[in-house]
Amino acid sequence: MAGLKLLLWSLIVGLSAYYFYSTDTITPEMVKGKRVIVTGSSTGIGEQIAYRFSEMGAHVMLTARRAKQLQEVAKKCLELGAGSARYVVADMENMTSAQNVAQEAIKQLGGLDYLVLNHLGGTGTFGSFKGDMEPVLSSNKINFLSYIQLTSTALKALLESQGSIIVMSSLSGRIGSPFSATYCAAKFALEGFFSSLRREFIMKKNNVSVTVAILGFIDTENAVKKIGDKVTMSASPKEECAIEIVNAAVLRQPEVFYPYWGIKPLWLLHNLAPNLIRNLLDKMYVQENIS
Ligand SMILES: NC(=O)c1ccc[n+]([C@@H]2O[C@H](COP(=O)([O-])OP(=O)(O)OC[C@H]3O[C@@H](n4cnc5c(N)ncnc54)[C@H](OP(=O)(O)O)[C@@H]3O)[C@@H](O)[C@H]2O)c1
Ligand SMILES: *[C@@H]1O[C@H](CO)[C@@H](O)[C@H](O)[C@H]1NC(C)=O
Ligand SMILES: *[C@@H]1O[C@H](CO)[C@@H](O)[C@H](O)[C@H]1NC(C)=O
Repeated sequence: MAGLKLLLWSLIVGLSAYYFYSTDTITPEMVKGKRVIVTGSSTGIGEQIAYRFSEMGAHVMLTARRAKQLQEVAKKCLELGAGSARYVVADMENMTSAQNVAQEAIKQLGGLDYLVLNHLGGTGTFGSFKGDMEPVLSSNKINFLSYIQLTSTALKALLESQGSIIVMSSLSGRIGSPFSATYCAAKFALEGFFSSLRREFIMKKNNVSVTVAILGFIDTENAVKKIGDKVTMSASPKEECAIEIVNAAVLRQPEVFYPYWGIKPLWLLHNLAPNLIRNLLDKMYVQENIS
């Protein structure tokens, strides 16, 4: 126990030194007039990311399935200072729709600087894997394949603008977490695809950046409804989460962890002592409330 504490403290000291020396700031001028797609922006983290880009004067294109919500978010984006705010309604389970979204957005925006891949759906209920293939297939389409389809369709525009791809992952995209096998599968797949793509871009010096956001529990309405009573973790604010993600995107950082202190030490320690960290994480699930 004492050894672990010492290890944790040395890690904390090391990390804080790194954190404070490497913190950079962004200015609205860096974002003003940039063309941004945010998927899954009718609510939650995507909605907040759209607001952060809007405040700095970007042109935003929103997309999700619910038109009414998107309309309201677009209105607020304009109030916050967006250069323009449009939306397109689409279901990301359909690859043709995903392709249409990217094409339509690039046409209307006249190009693309930031592709923010954020939507989440079709994973089924949070609970034991009972062998049902339906959520495996729908989650794979919505949470993995459509991300690739959007990237594929937008690639030419991103190469032209030397733009950026931002991908939402999770600690569950790095460390297998219980009761969410279909979700973990999609996030691990995204981490694989986009870490490969990032290396390719770096080697080819094409100056398209890939930022992966590794998130902990965030207080969005849907996440709290789905797992609020099933885990003992406390949820971090979606507004601050969006600020950190947009900062990292604009600074073209490869990764961003949020909440930093809740996630990064676990991830680093996991590489040193995987079973210790997995057992620690298992204790955060309230099994009585999980079917
Ligand atoms: N919240 C957390 O605790 C947490 C933790 C780690 C990672 N993340 C990641 O962060 C991202 C956002 O999470 P969140 O909590 O903000 O999610 P959320 O509040 O549930 O929002 C999901 C968004 O995706 C859209 N969507 C759902 N199904 C869709 C479909 N079939 N086609 C198109 N759009 C669809 C929803 O809009 P419509 O219903 O209108 O389509 C909504 O805008 C996700 O990638 C998630 O994995 C979240
Ligand atoms: C997918 O979307 C396209 C165009 O939006 C539509 O023509 C097609 O019928 C859809 N496919 C399915 C399986 O819903
Ligand atoms: C890479 O792209 C960014 C944003 O488009 C630009 O600011 C930067 O100057 C580019 N760097 C190089 C080396 O071309």
